[in-house]
Amino acid sequence: MEGGTVVRRPVLVLFAAAALALLPFAAAQPWPRCNRSSGNYSSGSTYEANLFNLITDLRGNASSSPSFFASGSAGTGGASAVYGLILCRGDVSASDCFDCGTWSGRDVQSFCDRARDVALVYNQCYVRVSDTDFLASPNNTGQARLISGTNISSGVDVAAYDRAVTALLNATARHAVGNSTGRLFATARHAVGNSKGIAF
Ligand SMILES: *[C@@H]1O[C@H](CO)[C@@H](O)[C@H](O)[C@H]1NC(C)=O
Ligand SMILES: *[C@@H]1O[C@H](CO)[C@@H](O)[C@H](O)[C@H]1NC(C)=O
Ligand SMILES: *[C@@H]1O[C@H](CO)[C@@H](O)[C@H](O)[C@H]1NC(C)=O
Ligand SMILES: *[C@@H]1O[C@H](CO)[C@@H](O)[C@H](O)[C@H]1NC(C)=O
Ligand SMILES: *[C@@H]1O[C@H](CO)[C@@H](O)[C@H](O)[C@H]1NC(C)=O
Ligand SMILES: *[C@@H]1O[C@H](CO)[C@@H](O)[C@H](O)[C@H]1NC(C)=O
Ligand SMILES: *[C@@H]1O[C@H](CO)[C@@H](O)[C@H](O)[C@H]1NC(C)=O
Repeated sequence: MEGGTVVRRPVLVLFAAAALALLPFAAAQPWPRCNRSSGNYSSGSTYEANLFNLITDLRGNASSSPSFFASGSAGTGGASAVYGLILCRGDVSASDCFDCGTWSGRDVQSFCDRARDVALVYNQCYVRVSDTDFLASPNNTGQARLISGTNISSGVDVAAYDRAVTALLNATARHAVGNSTGRLFATARHAVGNSKGIAF
């Protein structure tokens, strides 16, 4: 819990806890965010080798760490340096976390046409890789927007619903941080109206 990573982890967990649970588990994965202006690397390049080495490393480190989180870089400086992180959901098994890292290595090229800056969201984990050192700042970049496609039923008070969502997210984030078992993860459910429920 000490050190620089603690600053940005809660931000990521808040994002991930919200994003990962919004869509039904049956939906197609991953949800990619390809940075179209980050440029491409070519097949067989040092960048590509560094990228795969990094993902392999982060997969092992994240799945074996108490926090289910790992970040780091491969390649030293220059154009072939790659920075990345893997964050697994706090309620999956270590082997599911590891498998999610494997999927990200399989998908990282095909979903974004070898873009250098890519985020992949799976139900089990969030993966970000980039040629830019996004780890140096706690800014929450690399978000992938996930929208369930299910609308609030007509007749529901939208403003009240929005306030409930904000309060629930806020409480869930505080719970994840305050009652952390090391994974900074929490889920919560808040009923709105009769049978309408929202869960994170
Ligand atoms: C380069 O990446 C962009 C997306 O970032 C993609 O649209 C384009 O097809 C890629 N080009 C090559 C040659 O891979
Ligand atoms: C996309 O990549 C470019 C070039 O590295 C960078 O300047 C920009 O901030 C990135 N965009 C996002 C949304 O991360
Ligand atoms: C993974 O963990 C090992 C052992 O702590 C460390 O040496 C290595 O740098 C880590 N990898 C990355 C990419 O951070
Ligand atoms: C990113 O963080 C730095 C400080 O770490 C800050 O100066 C900068 O304004 C932030 N950028 C954004 C887009 O939030
Ligand atoms: C949700 O609402 C938007 C905006 O009113 C509409 O375009 C969309 O079709 C609705 N989706 C569903 C699943 O009803
Ligand atoms: C979230 O909760 C904290 C602590 O109760 C409060 O200070 C903050 O204003 C809340 N934020 C929102 C957006 O409700
Ligand atoms: C921590 O958990 C306890 C028991 O579930 C709860 O009462 C308390 O509000 C939680 N703390 C936070 C910060 O959510």
